[in-house]
Amino acid sequence: MTQAVPKTAGRVMLLGATGSIGRAVLAELVRTGHDVIAPIRAGSKAAGIPCDFTSDALSSLLSEYPCDAVISCLASRSGAPEDAWAVDHALNSRVLTAALQAGVPRFVLLSAICVQKPKLAFQQAKLAFEAELQAAPLDWTIVRPTAFFKSLSGQVARLKAGKPFLVFGDGALTACKPISDADLARFMVGCLTRPETTGQILPIGGPGPALTPLEQGQLLFKALGLPPKFRHVPPAILSFIIALISGLGLISRSARAKAELAKIGRYYATESMLVWDHHTQSYDAQATPEFGSDTLADHYRDLVQNDRPDDRGAHAVF
Ligand SMILES: NC(=O)c1ccc[n+]([C@@H]2O[C@H](COP(=O)([O-])OP(=O)(O)OC[C@H]3O[C@@H](n4cnc5c(N)ncnc54)[C@H](OP(=O)(O)O)[C@@H]3O)[C@@H](O)[C@H]2O)c1
Repeated sequence: MTQAVPKTAGRVMLLGATGSIGRAVLAELVRTGHDVIAPIRAGSKAAGIPCDFTSDALSSLLSEYPCDAVISCLASRSGAPEDAWAVDHALNSRVLTAALQAGVPRFVLLSAICVQKPKLAFQQAKLAFEAELQAAPLDWTIVRPTAFFKSLSGQVARLKAGKPFLVFGDGALTACKPISDADLARFMVGCLTRPETTGQILPIGGPGPALTPLEQGQLLFKALGLPPKFRHVPPAILSFIIALISGLGLISRSARAKAELAKIGRYYATESMLVWDHHTQSYDAQATPEFGSDTLADHYRDLVQNDRPDDRGAHAVF
């Protein structure tokens, strides 16, 4: 396949420009001199081109504004199975079809490291689109980040209120190398000008070392200037909740959706966001690539010093 990576800044269609990573990618594209076409949902207050995301609408945008690349940061807001199949799979699929019709030579996809060990519906939806993209006749890169800062910042208000930091088990069941939105955006936009990233699936974390939830809690207490105080929750409680809600799911659609969200919670309570080694059947912090310079400790300090609330954009889905 030809290497279609532009040597200079070109025009990029960015999907998901109103999301956490999409906003950071937009800023990075502008900073690096790209023209950006950002279709956004009608009714959104953000700057962009209102779009209904049908195939026709996406195709006509790309014919009006020919692009050198597409970057998709689209993701289901809820993580619920139907929404994940509608957005992470079907919507991305329409974007890809429109990109191919318009002859766009490059596609960079934001995915997630957790799809390497799929147990959840939204991971299957992501993998289905990843497979379509890999089979498509254009240059693609799939970026699979570890944990975002916002997903590790949900307990600031609890701690400020004098409550303990909640951890599952001993607090060291899992670990991750968190990456900031800005560092991830630099990594993704950098893919446009790094031919060696073409045809690659790239797991990526922030600067190490890998941090367990216990260590994350210690960093947050330090940023707050408070003595560490933890409450250990048995992870089995999540399985109990899932069994309970799944029973109700036999009669209620909303209970089925809640059961899936509880399964997502259990997944992140028990699985690390690090590269999975199939030979040793274990997570490998060493093998998890690092990028950028922003640390979770910096982020916590910033949240506390600027009296910012918890990153409540944080939803359950990695
Ligand atoms: N959280 C983590 O720690 C983590 C770690 C690794 C990977 N990831 C992956 O990163 C992605 C999440 O990124 P994020 O946090 O930046 O997402 P986000 O903030 O939830 O943003 C999602 C974007 O998708 C758009 N979108 C959702 N549904 C849409 C629809 N039906 N039509 C049009 N646009 C739609 C949203 O538009 P609106 O603003 O209009 O809703 C928004 O721009 C997921 O794929 C996740 O698996 C997350």
